[in-house]
Amino acid sequence: MSVILICTSRKYANWRDTLFCVMGPDPLDPLELPLVSRDIMMEYSNNVCKLATVLFELLSEALGLKSDHLKEMDCVKGHALLSHYYPACPEPELAMGTTKHSDPDFLTILLQDDIGGLQIFHQNHWIDVPPVHGALVVNIGDLLQLISNDKFKSVEHRVVANHIGPRVSVASFFTPHLYPSTRLYGPIKELLSEENPPIYCEITVKDFIAYYDSKGLDGKSALPHFKL
Ligand code: OGA
Ligand code: NI
Repeated sequence: MSVILICTSRKYANWRDTLFCVMGPDPLDPLELPLVSRDIMMEYSNNVCKLATVLFELLSEALGLKSDHLKEMDCVKGHALLSHYYPACPEPELAMGTTKHSDPDFLTILLQDDIGGLQIFHQNHWIDVPPVHGALVVNIGDLLQLISNDKFKSVEHRVVANHIGPRVSVASFFTPHLYPSTRLYGPIKELLSEENPPIYCEITVKDFIAYYDSKGLDGKSALPHFKL
């Protein structure tokens, strides 16, 4: 079994359990996965990595870079699957499925079932992201905001608790944060100019995650801490 995280925040309990499995870059021994979901997790992980590779190519091009730029920066190298289980909640007004946060990764690909509850924070309002059968939700994470020097913005989101449940979702995080790398990430040089000076300092992903985790899911972005 890999690591099981029970996430807490300061104002609300996060009304969920999460099975957190690091699938890459070091290949995971499938025997470490629960038998009931072993094959499907391996297959899903392989396929979601292929999708992420294409998305990082498109995002590189959107930044005006060579299509393999983000891949060369190891954005697709680390991959974790967070399998969330949100039980039905008897008093949803007192709890939150997942409190407000942006994701501490480059990119998240989210599969949600048909219960709903995911919301994004847009222009000071919470907007529902209704489930669409057969569709995946793709989020920009904080690390992509940092290396794109704010060209891409990470999205703040949460999951509200619900009388109806359980709700199940699977978030694929693309981040090398459990990979012991000393590589420094800062705004991509090719994106900088006199008019676009760097907004953030260079950091290791390990330092970013250490700060993000120490702060907790408190509704505040971790990024301002790394501004120049
Ligand atoms: C996450 C997340 C949303 C969901 O894992 O970071 O925001 O719908 N998940 O479970
Ligand atoms: Ni998230």
